[in-house]
Amino acid sequence: MINKCLFPAAGYGTRFLPATKAIPKEMLPVNTKPLIQYGVEEALNAKCNTMAIVTGRGKRAIEDHFDISYELEHQLKSAKKEHLLNDIRDIINACSFTYIRQNEMKGLGHAILTGQKLVGNEPFGVILADDLCINTRKGVLAQMVELYDKYKCSIIAIQEVEKENLSKYGVIDASEIDSGIFRVKDMVEKPDIESAPSNLAVIGRYILTPDIFEILETTSPDKKGEIQITDALKVQAKKGNVIAYKFEGIRYDCGSIEGFVKANTDLFNNSGK
Ligand code: UTP
Repeated sequence: MINKCLFPAAGYGTRFLPATKAIPKEMLPVNTKPLIQYGVEEALNAKCNTMAIVTGRGKRAIEDHFDISYELEHQLKSAKKEHLLNDIRDIINACSFTYIRQNEMKGLGHAILTGQKLVGNEPFGVILADDLCINTRKGVLAQMVELYDKYKCSIIAIQEVEKENLSKYGVIDASEIDSGIFRVKDMVEKPDIESAPSNLAVIGRYILTPDIFEILETTSPDKKGEIQITDALKVQAKKGNVIAYKFEGIRYDCGSIEGFVKANTDLFNNSGK
């Protein structure tokens, strides 16, 4: 069972400035719902009941979002509009939220290491809320939990990416062991087109075994001073302990303006609103 899901949400979101000056990127809405709420719903769909959120300065709106607003609820009740908060109420009742602050933005690997105090010594899910994944059948994390139950090692979600975009991602070197399922041998973070080992890029969904924390503790920062999760996963991969999975569903890169606008347009058109 994977009970906990970690949400690294401490990044600056510079690509969305000035919108993200006072509002966390994770609170930007796709239609009426903030990005992080989609992520929490996906974690609940995978039967995770504890959301462990790594926040930073200026991110208090996330905590307020997943809390009850008595004044607002009172107002809505008198206007007979309380149904507008039904979904978020259900979420608050279905799971618990824990928070920790990453004091210095030293990369995704460092953010995950910061979450150790919330996660403890058990396997856990990781959702990067700015990668919005939409699926009609089963959420991406739930699909990955099924694989974890089979392989009992770290699971990472991948997708095929055009050559010219590979340099934005971690890219895997792997052999296919079943349809859409790969045993990872090696990984490269943001490779040049020529040195990319495949066209399979890692997206923002992981299930990690807790030995990742020990590895992260000894992982050196890169040239920019950031600790990369790719470097820690490489250590697990060398031991044959990382499975990559071509998930079912559509992923929107909502960390980029184009992906964010596309998600808004597609979800709006599909909702029939
Ligand atoms: P990004 O690389 O998208 O960085 O982080 P960012 O700061 O959020 O956005 P830009 O590039 O400046 O526009 C990927 C994920 O890792 C988290 C982010 O919150 C995001 O979910 N992250 C990144 C941290 O939590 N801490 C960090 O130090 C870095």
